[in-house]
Amino acid sequence: MTKKRIVAIGGDGVGPEVMDATCHILEKAGWGLEVLKPPSGSEALKTLGNAFPDETKKLCDESDAILFGATGGPSSGLLAYLRWGMDNYINLRPVKYYPGAYSPLKNPERIDFLIIRENSEGMYPGREGDLSWLVQKLPDYKDPSGRTLDSYGEGKFALRVITRRGTERIAKYAVELARERKSQGFPGKVTCLTKSNVLKQSCGLFQKTVEEAVKKIPGIGYEHFHVDDAARRLIRFPRDFDVIVTSNMFGDILADEAGEMVGGLGIAPSAVLGGRKPYFEPVHGSAPDIAGKGIVNPTAMILSAKMMLEYLGMKTEAESLEKAVAAVYREGKHLTADQGGKASTKAMAEAVLEKIR
Ligand code: NAD
Ligand code: IPM
Ligand code: MN
Repeated sequence: MTKKRIVAIGGDGVGPEVMDATCHILEKAGWGLEVLKPPSGSEALKTLGNAFPDETKKLCDESDAILFGATGGPSSGLLAYLRWGMDNYINLRPVKYYPGAYSPLKNPERIDFLIIRENSEGMYPGREGDLSWLVQKLPDYKDPSGRTLDSYGEGKFALRVITRRGTERIAKYAVELARERKSQGFPGKVTCLTKSNVLKQSCGLFQKTVEEAVKKIPGIGYEHFHVDDAARRLIRFPRDFDVIVTSNMFGDILADEAGEMVGGLGIAPSAVLGGRKPYFEPVHGSAPDIAGKGIVNPTAMILSAKMMLEYLGMKTEAESLEKAVAAVYREGKHLTADQGGKASTKAMAEAVLEKIR
């Protein structure tokens, strides 16, 4: 087998710290990966005057997969390229409890579901402007309460776009994943989350399209909740979920909430797929409040790398990495501060590596 080539991009804030910790494991585990670390993010901005040099972009384009730490501003162009430039329309955010993780729930045992966040449209990338511009374009538009846009006075607007094509492709991915999960012993159920009671057209289209996709595959369970109700159900009935599919911003918000349920943002990984080149990143951001202190939890980045290994067909290695992480949590001796421990980022990564060896 030819060596898989990975491009590791730290980005900003804690991004490079969790990336270094993860690359240390990937390089020392003896899995024959080629890990490239081209300049990027705040550091590259300082030294080269560019957070996303052309050479780094070229390496991303030519890689087998990309690991990304986080953006805290300087790397936002990089993130935009990896998401929208690459047309990675799937943002897969697993929510799984590892015993020993610091969950605020009384009983987090056996929580294991997926959030599929549509990643190419909705409220992203922000489409905004002055309300006065919209008033000019739509002088006769009346909202459902009968108000015209000019009656609001000075202000801003944001556009939310839901397309049939965009929803069909994410719905197809969700039902296929539910079918695959069913074959692995999970319920095989798709839960669609919208606000179709208010956004009757855009969320209505999303809901209807997901329902059509579910009907095409026999044996898949289905339910729909309004997103506000779902925010509460996640906490009250976390084991009722299997595969959640929702639009971009709802998925963004719920992924942070769900991550917290199983121990916090320090643990929540993600995969961003479907386009020209997949990339893998934690759900969390650049965590400026703890950056540079050597205490950030590397687990979310490590588990994102585990998702990358799965994607690359390296099943044994992915399992080995996940088992090592689970063992470190179970033992509880090398956990970072967010998990109630005292370990540094490096010490936690070293403990994971020890379990692999
Ligand atoms: P954040 O996720 O960076 O941090 C929220 C809180 O969680 C902070 O208290 C932080 O210390 C803590 N935290 C996050 N990751 C942690 C980890 N691995 N270990 C321990 N604690 C952790 O969210 P924010 O503060 O709202 O955003 C900071 C910046 O990050 C903003 O610029 C935002 O736009 C960006 N952001 C980027 C991404 C991304 O790159 N995908 C995701 C979210 C936020
Ligand atoms: C995330 C982040 C991003 C988002 C920001 C940094 C654009 O919150 O990856 O969850 O809103 O998608
Ligand atoms: Mn987010």
